[in-house]
Amino acid sequence: MQRPCPARPRALQPVASEEELRTTVRRLADEIAADHGRHQPLVVLGIMKGVVIFLADLVRHLPMPLQIEFVSARSYNGTRQETVEVLDDLGGLDLEGKAVLLVDCVLDTGRTLASIHREVVRRSPADLKTCVLLSKQRPRRAPVRPDYVGLGVPDVFLVGYGLDHDNRWRHLPYVAELRMPEDAQEPE
Ligand code: IMP
Ligand code: MG
Repeated sequence: MQRPCPARPRALQPVASEEELRTTVRRLADEIAADHGRHQPLVVLGIMKGVVIFLADLVRHLPMPLQIEFVSARSYNGTRQETVEVLDDLGGLDLEGKAVLLVDCVLDTGRTLASIHREVVRRSPADLKTCVLLSKQRPRRAPVRPDYVGLGVPDVFLVGYGLDHDNRWRHLPYVAELRMPEDAQEPE
């Protein structure tokens, strides 16, 4: 059966194709496996919700025994950036002595990854690495340097492959720039 392909409105300009994303995810998984080894257990901690599609693809290429966990954070309201709100403080998740891979879909100011990284460090993991699929080419506003980076992308508002604008467009199989008309909140 053919997978339905959502029509591309004029407001969406492709930034990373399905093929590019597939190759990138595969490379990241190879890098992680090469560093971590194939036998040591790993806790893969994804930052909801944008990470879901990337994480689902990434873990299917990881060979080691692993556990999938999520933490929720919110830093945008529409395309306007706000302060990071960690919506769930990792609850009763026990990370002490474990190897953790913190995963996000896109690195923008760096605040989200930095604040969740701090939370995880408090839980005394044996090892903590960070992985982002997309890294916006812009100055960071928090001190983060991910261990694994997929693709450098321009500093524009992106949707697709998990990324949303007001909870829309996450299901696009590629990443696109969402072009907004001047000062408007909705795409053309
Ligand atoms: P940061 O805290 O500024 O680095 O932003 C990271 C978080 O903001 C990501 O986890 C995303 O949820 C969200 N985000 C950043 N840039 C975009 C974007 O271009 N489109 C959609 N969400 C974004
Ligand atoms: Mg969002």
